[in-house]
Formats: sequence, structure tokens, C-alpha cells
Amino acid sequence: MKVSAVVLVLVAFQAAAAVLVQATAPGTPTVGYYNDKCNVSVEGIVRDIVKAALDADITNGAALVRLFFHDCFVRGCDGSVLLDPTYANPYPEKTSGANIGLRGFDVIDAIKANIETACPNTVSCADILAFAARDASRYLSNGGINYIVPAGRPDGVVSLATDAENNLPGSTFEVSKLISNFAAKGFTLEELVILCGAHSIGRAHCSSFNDRLSAPSSEINPYFRDNVLAKYCGAGPADPTVENNIRDQNATALGNLTSYVVPASGGASLDNSYYINNLKNLVLFHSDWALVGTNSTLRHVHEYADNGTLWNLDFADALVKLSKLSMPPGSSGEIRKTCRATNY
Ligand code: HEM
Ligand SMILES: *[C@@H]1O[C@H](CO)[C@@H](O)[C@H](O)[C@H]1NC(C)=O
Ligand SMILES: *[C@@H]1O[C@H](CO)[C@@H](O)[C@H](O)[C@H]1NC(C)=O
Ligand SMILES: *[C@@H]1O[C@H](CO)[C@@H](O)[C@H](O)[C@H]1NC(C)=O
Ligand SMILES: *[C@@H]1O[C@H](CO)[C@@H](O)[C@H](O)[C@H]1NC(C)=O
Ligand SMILES: *[C@@H]1O[C@H](CO)[C@@H](O)[C@H](O)[C@H]1NC(C)=O
Repeated sequence: MKVSAVVLVLVAFQAAAAVLVQATAPGTPTVGYYNDKCNVSVEGIVRDIVKAALDADITNGAALVRLFFHDCFVRGCDGSVLLDPTYANPYPEKTSGANIGLRGFDVIDAIKANIETACPNTVSCADILAFAARDASRYLSNGGINYIVPAGRPDGVVSLATDAENNLPGSTFEVSKLISNFAAKGFTLEELVILCGAHSIGRAHCSSFNDRLSAPSSEINPYFRDNVLAKYCGAGPADPTVENNIRDQNATALGNLTSYVVPASGGASLDNSYYINNLKNLVLFHSDWALVGTNSTLRHVHEYADNGTLWNLDFADALVKLSKLSMPPGSSGEIRKTCRATNY
């Protein structure tokens, strides 16, 4: 055999071995993972409880979408964001400043309790969160964002506030820092722009956009800055919340900015209005504005402002990609009995 042939055989063998390892590696999520593991429809239970939770309080939808993002960007999608403080681990991810305002935990608890009754010790909290974020996105987009998501993720046993601080993007980040933060998780500049469209829903604390109250008028509509945001933030409780999307703000407070409001078409609030608002300097965070401040990202902001259908499709793909971030190699996993605590 010639040397080149030997090399070829070796390469072929290694490729086959690699495929084998990949196919059998634990935690490689697959579509329909629970179909043959429970006598009930796991995804059906999640869908029904998410629907009930959003019918009761529509803001639960934004909560679940953000919870999923914050789970996956820190140690992969492993439910680590759900863990409560304990004596042994007083500062889990959820106590981090980067997780300010994180909510929706009660919805996950309700789903988990229901599933544990129907199919005990089988379904991970990480998968429940991936399904719940998918279902919330579909609900809030009126079916426009609709995708199948693989499952079979184990729940992690490690959760540290410092990991959240080090991995989640900050609202004061410049575009270069946003790009490198997303690149560290395997996401392109375009996917960064796509995923930020989630800020068409939900709310933020004033402390998350303090810097914007004194930002130059080239970076934020000055009426919005001085007569809307500064007024909300100067009144009421110490750190009140403001709606992310001008569409969802009090029309009286918006004054003549109401002429810029993009109505939710067919009841779909999770939509491409974020890009349209961004082109008018009517978004909350510096990190939002940063996407129109540079040509490389601005190009994509235009792309999605112009085509809401395209955004729905690309956002769905980006969420599927997000769902595939996995725990660091060598981490141990389990199926938690309750989403707020590890089993031992
Ligand atoms: C690009 C970097 C991002 C930054 C700097 C950022 C930052 C923030 C901040 C500071 C808040 C407000 C938290 C508070 O004050 O209570 C927020 C809210 C939110 N974010 Fe992001 N975010 C980013 C990307 C994303 C992504 C990729 C998603 C989902 C795919 C997302 C979904 C949300 C949602 C839905 C809310 C509202 C949550 C609620 O109403 O409870 N964000 N984000
Ligand atoms: C599912 O149903 C079969 C047949 O009724 C039963 O043997 C099995 O224990 C059930 N499995 C679960 C997880 O409930
Ligand atoms: C809207 O804002 C105005 C003044 O800014 C206030 O008087 C009014 O009560 C607000 N309405 C609601 C529904 O919050
Ligand atoms: C809104 O009113 C302000 C002054 O109150 C004015 O400067 C601005 O041009 C107006 N904007 C629109 C969209 O009418
Ligand atoms: C961005 O694009 C505009 C218009 O095409 C151009 O005038 C400007 O120089 C570009 N800026 C950068 C930093 O490339
Ligand atoms: C918007 O994007 C969708 C999906 O790619 C495409 O089918 C449609 O033709 C686009 N619409 C316009 C007006 O470009």
C-alpha cells in the first residue's frame, strides 16, 4: 500500500470513529427525544402550561425567552440559571447583576411539577426551558416563529454568579464587544443582530439604561430620552421598569412619538419592530443602538426592518442554534427532581 493510501484509510477510519462518538455522546440533543420515554406528550404539557401562563400574564412570554438565552449563554443550556442559592452555593447565576430582572421561574416550576407527576425522573429542566421558550416565541409571534427543537439535555450541577458576569453581554457594550461576546459562543455578527430582535418584547429596569439618559442626541431620540425615559425613571420606586418597545409604552407619555409606533400586526408582539424602532433611535439600551452605529451591523438592521417574515425565520433558526450550546466537556449532568435544586 502506498503511503498516501495508508493516510487515506486512516483518515476514513478516524472520520468513522468521530461519527460514532458524536452519535453516542451523551447530551447530544435529538428531535422527539421524549416520544418513547413517557406515556404522555411532554411537549404537549409544556405547550399547554405556557399558553395558560401567557393567557394569565402575557409578560411571562418575554420572561421565558430571556431565561432561555441566559441559561444557554452560561455553561450551555443546562438549566444552571434555574438553581436557587444554597448554604453550599450562596451565589448561583441568578444572583448575578447580569441577571437583573430575570423571571419566569414559577412557570418552569409549574411545568416541572406537572411533568414529574405524569412521567417522573425523566425530563430535564434544561429541556423544559428550551420547549417553553419555543412555545412562548410561537405564541407571541402569533405562529410566525415556529420551530422544532431537539431535546435530551442533561441538567447541570454547577451554577456560579461569576460565570454569568463573564459570559452574558452588558447593556453598555460597544458593538465590537457584542460581536466578540457572541463569537465566543459561535454566533456570527448577523446572528447577533437577529437575536437582539427579542427586545421587541419585555421590559427593563431603569438601572439597565441609566447611561442612555445622558447619551448624545445622535444616539437616542432626545424627546424619547428627556420626556419619556427620564420621566419614567425619575418617578415612582427606586428602580422602576420601562417597556422595551415604544409600542408598549403609555401613549400619553410618548406624545408625538406615537406617530412612530409600529402596531403589533395580528397580535404578534415578538416581531421585527425592534429594527424599525432602532433606525429611529427609539430603543432602550446602548447595546441596541450600537447595532445601528456601525455599518456591518446596520446593514442587517435594515434587512430585518424591511422584512418581518425573514426575521421570523432567521430568529427561529438562531434559537435552535442557541439551544445546541452544551455544557463544558466533562461536566456531570442529571435529571433534577426540582428545577431549583440539584439532586444531592
Ligand atoms: C445582545 C446583547 C444583549 C444585551 C446587552 C441584553 C440586555 C438586556 C437587559 C439589560 C435587559 C433588561 C433587564 C432588566 O433590567 O430587568 C434585557 C431584557 C430582555 N432581553 Fe436582552 N440583552 C441582549 C440580548 C438578548 C437576547 C439574545 C435575547 C433573547 C433571544 C434577549 C431577550 C430579552 C428579553 C425577552 C428581555 C425582557 C425580559 C423581561 O421582560 O423580563 N436579550 N436584555
Ligand atoms: C407506560 O405505559 C406502559 C404500559 O401501560 C407501562 O408499562 C409503563 O410503565 C409506562 N411508563 C411510564 C414512564 O409511565
Ligand atoms: C399615562 O401617562 C400619563 C401622563 O404621562 C398619566 O397621566 C396616565 O395615568 C398614564 N396612563 C396609564 C394607563 O398608565
Ligand atoms: C415632537 O415634538 C417635539 C417638540 O415637542 C419636536 O421637536 C419634534 O420634532 C416632534 N416630533 C414629531 C415626530 O412630530
Ligand atoms: C458607512 O456607510 C456610509 C454610507 O454608505 C459611509 O458614508 C460611511 O463612510 C461608512 N462608515 C464606515 C465606518 O464604514
Ligand atoms: C421576505 O423574506 C421572505 C423569506 O425569505 C421571502 O420569501 C420574501 O420574498 C421576502 N419579502 C420581500 C418583500 O423581500
